[in-house]
Amino acid sequence: MEKVVSGIRPTGPLHLGNYFGAVRNFIRMQEEYDCRFFVADLHSLTTHPKADDLQANVNRLLTELIACGVDPEKATLFVQSDLEEIPQLYLIFNMLAYKGELERVVTFKEKARKQPNNVNAGLLTYPVLMSVDIIIHRAAKVPVGKDQEQHLEMTRNFVNRFNHLYQTDFFPEPEAFNFGGQLVKIPGLDGSGKMGKSEGANNAVYLGEDPKSITKKVKRAVTDAGPTEPNSTPSEPVANLFALMDAVSAPETVQQFRDAYADCSIRYGDLKVQLAEDIIAFTAPIRERIAELDAQPDFIRNIRRAGAEKARQTARETLEGVKEIIGLGY
Ligand code: TRP
Repeated sequence: MEKVVSGIRPTGPLHLGNYFGAVRNFIRMQEEYDCRFFVADLHSLTTHPKADDLQANVNRLLTELIACGVDPEKATLFVQSDLEEIPQLYLIFNMLAYKGELERVVTFKEKARKQPNNVNAGLLTYPVLMSVDIIIHRAAKVPVGKDQEQHLEMTRNFVNRFNHLYQTDFFPEPEAFNFGGQLVKIPGLDGSGKMGKSEGANNAVYLGEDPKSITKKVKRAVTDAGPTEPNSTPSEPVANLFALMDAVSAPETVQQFRDAYADCSIRYGDLKVQLAEDIIAFTAPIRERIAELDAQPDFIRNIRRAGAEKARQTARETLEGVKEIIGLGY
């Protein structure tokens, strides 16, 4: 079975955008591939070096991934920092990464701009750590969004450099993997752009969010003054609400509101009530499962331990192979 690797940084609770982006694909991929999904907690330290709630965020993410349907019996679910082999291989691969190419990485430049007082070496070598996450399992496929494609390109560069320098074909070149075609982009509630927590607290709807709070957020969503002539194209804020409906509501329901928009009879208040209701219904099973899992912390702890053990097997093999190849195998 082909290996798939993907990581998520534990920066906060999962929202609908995460669900329809990465998470739903995880759930599908685990049926067909040998998947390793992990919580990229070390990567978080590049931007949040003192996250005193890191432990809580890591457990939250594990819990929510499982609540969404990631099945630890099918996929290997682990925490990056549980594998000591990762920092070891990271050190070795840092010798293969050039300062110049790292400085040209778009995400580095963005983050350096955002945190000018903490442009640390870990931020610079973020792509090296991410490469190691992938190649330590000698994975062939990596499901990534657009913003991560450059990192994957660099992974291929590092792999080729290693293979060439040491005259080996030890590492396969990983490729970007778009499971099931186009990722569904979920917009936020604030009228523009995609759902994300960095866009503000009211922009994202979280999978574990309580129904009252969901209703309140949806009610506050940005709209416009309403259609003034038949069959007009909705403005971005309204198109966004339709896109959210497309994701969570029954097709007939969406059609009904689209028709109402087309003949100018739409009332945004009704649309919001319906949308909130459908989001609440859609997230209900996940919310319930989160609550169940929260009541049994041992369960998550055991999954975490078992996942690390499984992931460590390939990680150890890879690290030993690399040391042998480099001449460090003494
Ligand atoms: N950099 C990724 C992100 O921000 C997270 C990540 C870390 C990752 N290591 C990875 C994704 C390995 C895929 C494979 O989304």
